[in-house]
Amino acid sequence: MIVAHTKQELEEQLAEWRRHDEHVALVPTMGNLHAGHLSLVDLAREHAERVVVSIFVNPTQFGEGEDFDEYPRTLERDTRRLKKPAADLIFAPEVETMYPFGLEDATTIAVPRITENFCGADRPGHFDGVTSVVARLFALVQPDAAVFGQKDYQQQLVIRHMSLDLNLPVSIITGETVREEDGLAMSSRNQYLSEGDRAIAPVLFKLLSDVAKQLQSGARNYSDLEVEAIAKLSAVGFDVDYFSIRRAQNLEIPDRDCDELVVLAAARLGDARLIDNIVVTI
Ligand code: PAJ
Repeated sequence: MIVAHTKQELEEQLAEWRRHDEHVALVPTMGNLHAGHLSLVDLAREHAERVVVSIFVNPTQFGEGEDFDEYPRTLERDTRRLKKPAADLIFAPEVETMYPFGLEDATTIAVPRITENFCGADRPGHFDGVTSVVARLFALVQPDAAVFGQKDYQQQLVIRHMSLDLNLPVSIITGETVREEDGLAMSSRNQYLSEGDRAIAPVLFKLLSDVAKQLQSGARNYSDLEVEAIAKLSAVGFDVDYFSIRRAQNLEIPDRDCDELVVLAAARLGDARLIDNIVVTI
């Protein structure tokens, strides 16, 4: 496995693969890899002969007071984890490689509207940071396909929007959420949970599942379902950022006939902010 830190190291390897007409799939990550990330590597492998995993804790997507400094940086362990499923190359650039003009003078790519609610409202500027770094990764790696997790539902919609809107020649693929046995979605940030909060955390997925079942059984009183779920989460100790039933396609408010819904939620427990969602086809 190759670990490329610089643009030149990356480009040398990519040129070699292109000479052999090999396709490349990219899995962008911030490292501290868990089974959820590894499932995306497996999925990437189904779409290309070569898989690149980028590991970059992107400063522009963290707000003030967020966990940029504390975010776990575990490149050695991540490299070991990427032996199976095997990535062909890990791209682990420095900030200067991703932002050659420096953070102050960096070009920003901003997707409007779909970024304004939910995680975009709770974390101002977050999605501009995500799109700005993902566009740079696409330009550097020029992948045929790129794989993102459904766990960050809004993020993968925003990236799809950017790619379609800018005609970026990359197929966006979304991989299913990988969960712990008790249903909690795997996340690098779960390690911020205290033992007590870890025991409460699966309630988030349980409530998403309950609401999904009710929708499947014909319930259409969306706002009652949302209010009820928020009350239940608050009762067990969550501080709820949002719990919403929306159109899966664009996160707009659904009418009663909408048949592709997403139930999405973000809630804080102690130092951890958990996000999760379920797509419901009716
Ligand atoms: P990160 O949080 O490291 O996640 C990298 C990818 O793994 C994202 O596409 C995310 O949706 C996916 N992922 C996280 N948990 C998952 C789970 N339990 N099951 C399946 N996939 C999961 O998301 C980011 O990094 C960054 O915003 C990034 C896109 C890399 C841009 O900096």
